[in-house]
This record gives sequence, C-alpha cells and structure tokens, in this order.
Amino acid sequence: MDKGIFITFEGGDGAGKSTQIGLLNDELISRGYDVLLLREPGGTAISEKIREIILDKDNSEMTYKTEAFLYAAARAQLVEEVIEPAINKGSIVICDRFVDSSMAYQSYGRELGDMVWDINRYAISGIMPELTFFLKVDPEKGRKRISGRDLDRMELASAEFHNRVFDGYLELEKLHPDRIVGIKADQPIETIATIIIDKVIDKLDNR
Ligand code: TYD
Repeated sequence: MDKGIFITFEGGDGAGKSTQIGLLNDELISRGYDVLLLREPGGTAISEKIREIILDKDNSEMTYKTEAFLYAAARAQLVEEVIEPAINKGSIVICDRFVDSSMAYQSYGRELGDMVWDINRYAISGIMPELTFFLKVDPEKGRKRISGRDLDRMELASAEFHNRVFDGYLELEKLHPDRIVGIKADQPIETIATIIIDKVIDKLDNR
C-alpha cells in the first residue's frame, strides 16, 4: 500500500480556501482516493476546545505567547491523534491551515520570531506537508470580503497585523519554493482548482 500524503492550504482571511478544499476533495474522491479533511485549530475534541479559547473575542487579555502555545498544543494533539495515523494508513490528508499559519500569524504577525518555530518543532514531531497551497489575496481585499461576518479574536486584529501576516506568507513562499505553491486568489475558481488538482495528481503519481 502507498503511504498517504499530507497537503495543506494557507492564506489570509477571505482567500477562498474552503471553496478550493471542497473542490479538491470532490475531485479526489471521484478518482477513488481516500481523503481526510481537517482544519486547524481543531480536528480533535481537545483541539476544538482549544480553538474556542483562542478565537473567543472575550479573551482580549490573552498574551501573544499564550496564543502561540495554544495553537501549537492544538496542533500537537491533531498530529498524534489523527494526521500521523491517517498518513500511515495511506490516506490523503488535507488540512485547512497548519504550521505555516503559526509562522505567518504568530512569528511574523505577532512578531514573536524564532520561538514560534522552536515550539512547533516539538508539536509536529517531524510531520510536515509535502504540498502547501498558499492562496494569495491582498490583505485589504480579503478583509472586505469577510466584513459582513461576526469576526473572531484573530479577525479583529489590526490591519497592520494582517499586512505583516501576508508579508510573512510571502517570505515563507520564498524560503520553501519546493513545497509552497503560491496562487493568486483573484482568478476564476475553476482556474485555481485546475492548478491545484494538477499539482496534487503530479505529486501522487511521483510518490
Ligand atoms: P478560522 O475561522 O479557521 O479562519 P480561516 O477561515 O481564515 O481559516 O480561524 C483560524 C484563525 O486562526 C485565523 O484567523 C488564522 C488563525 N491562526 C493563527 O493565528 N495561527 C495558527 O497557527 C493557525 C492554525 C490559525
């Protein structure tokens, strides 16, 4: 049996990640693959509880370090309880956000620097995605797209913070060109979906 693969989606608010994840899932299932969809923070009972704490807008006194540790803790649980076993049994695991989110939001956005990678190294236990799709939307435009919703604690952070997050992602894309595929999110949905499925099939065929 083939080993599974781990694919992640990244990007700022309003980039259309969920739409693309849904389309990729449908396509892979129609081709007969076993797919597991996850989101971060979340994906296990414990991680979902941590998610509630992190995103609760009443938790305005949460320090940036606490925030970084909580994301890493939710991730550690998800990796051990779900991601690693699923990859080992041959599934395609697709996760809406993973460690790159902590690098973009906590390391660059909150300006916590290297401590974020240090704690996450322990959290992920060597499990990294083989392919990461970074849907690029101008932070200003992304925020406009979500402006009608009831915003959570992260979405309520300043425009400067969200600009740093975006610049952080651009930096990560440069640092990991073999893994991170940046895609402009202002293209037609079908165009983006085709770019994504082609890359995934290529990866699966070359396992
Ligand atoms: P979610 O509602 O899942 O956002 P989205 O639909 O944009 O993916 O909320 C997750 C929020 O948490 C989002 O604002 C990004 C942020 N986040 C971090 O700051 N660090 C992380 O490590 C992760 C996984 C998410």
